[in-house]
Amino acid sequence: MNFNARKRCALYDHFGDRLRTSETLDRKLVSYQGNKETPGFRWMKYKEGFSSRLVDLLLEEVPSQTVLDPFSGIGTTALTASACNRQSHAIEIMPVGNLTAKAISQVANGVQSKALRQAASALIDAVGSTRCVEASRFPHVRITRCAFSPATETALSQARAFIADYEHKDVRSLLNFVCMSVLEDVSYTRKDGQYLRWDPRSGRTVSTKLDKGVLPSLGDCLNAKFAQVIEDAPHLKRRFVGLAPHFVDGSCLLKLKEFPAATIDLVITSPPYANRYDYTRTYALELAFLGFDDSAVKALRQELLSATVENKSKRRLISDAYGESQLPDEAFAVVDNQMALQEVLEILRERRSELSNPHVIRLIENYFTEMSVVIAELARVVKPRGSVFMVNDNVQYHGEELPVDFILSDLAEHFGFHCKTIWKLKRGKGNASQQMGRYGRTEIRKCLYHWVRRNGH
Ligand SMILES: C[S@@+](CC[C@H](N)C(=O)[O-])C[C@H]1O[C@@H](n2cnc3c(N)ncnc32)[C@H](O)[C@@H]1O
Repeated sequence: MNFNARKRCALYDHFGDRLRTSETLDRKLVSYQGNKETPGFRWMKYKEGFSSRLVDLLLEEVPSQTVLDPFSGIGTTALTASACNRQSHAIEIMPVGNLTAKAISQVANGVQSKALRQAASALIDAVGSTRCVEASRFPHVRITRCAFSPATETALSQARAFIADYEHKDVRSLLNFVCMSVLEDVSYTRKDGQYLRWDPRSGRTVSTKLDKGVLPSLGDCLNAKFAQVIEDAPHLKRRFVGLAPHFVDGSCLLKLKEFPAATIDLVITSPPYANRYDYTRTYALELAFLGFDDSAVKALRQELLSATVENKSKRRLISDAYGESQLPDEAFAVVDNQMALQEVLEILRERRSELSNPHVIRLIENYFTEMSVVIAELARVVKPRGSVFMVNDNVQYHGEELPVDFILSDLAEHFGFHCKTIWKLKRGKGNASQQMGRYGRTEIRKCLYHWVRRNGH
């Protein structure tokens, strides 16, 4: 036994027999790749999503009437559950996800294809103009400047002006979504986990070369996307029509407390991973398009579940929001006493000077503190014998494995769940690239946890 990993080994002894390799789960099922051909979900390349098929499989597994996803993304869980006649709730903080989920729901439940066709054709005519609408120029933030060619900047100004004036609210929201969904395609950027990669034609100084080839025009991209939306509409109307999900815009750290106790049968979710990925950077183009300026992007980054080195502690904010309730204090105490987590933190603190970024220590502390609040809330809102399924990745920092699956399952057991199974994908992930050179490639578990709410905890 590695002397420095005693507490983690103890956790392994506790959960080891519940860690199983799944024959069914594969990368396609637990990632957005599985949605690439799926009507509706294929409209937005939301790389952080999981597939609608995974939700279908889990809905078959567990009887349920009411389903919740506190980290809803583009609404895969809520929309799929609604399509299967479940009542569903979705909490999401990023407007990029919310706009997409609502667009799918609108096409499934409301907006007529004829109205959309007319609006699409008028928008595409408008972006053909070569005159820039100064007042509607793309409102860049610092990290999106130079993302578009001058011709695309002009076309975007036309699109923004046209959409802002469009009178029918639901169609306007769909036009907004479609325009947002093609921004990456018409730009000199590509999303790459923690940041945007840049094509040197942008004029930016870039270290990694990205060649995006011939960039399509905004008009061509809009045309193709509208064709997809219109092609998918009949299918969505057949499949997704039913109960429209209840979408909640905001942070689950503040919104979950508004849900009544013991009302949810099933949670299917995937929180951000503790891997430094920054959604506000990768989706900077989309956020700027939706009207976020630099300070709004910075504020949103702080509100997201802490997963970046920039995040500061939210303990105070959460305590204040909860007022008299004991829930946050209990959640903080549980995480402060989770010995395997504290073991990793202790090692990293001792080696602080060797870390490429010492703020990873803060990231890890904040991540588990906030997840502890989320899990305490899930234990409160899920009915006895109800289930939680959670997709998440383990991580490694400075060669120290952080068994996120076991630590979160331990917190869940504390709050009244029984950890039934931790399903592991056959192939895990290599570690983060900046660590490979020093420690060699090791596999990090990618898992789906299944927790069942105990009776009378
Ligand atoms: C791994 S993704 C989940 C994607 C989702 N399963 C799907 O299929 O689209 C995690 C999501 O959590 C959201 N998120 C991060 N912090 C949040 C918070 N405090 N409250 C609610 N959502 C949050 C992110 O914006 C992101 O969309």
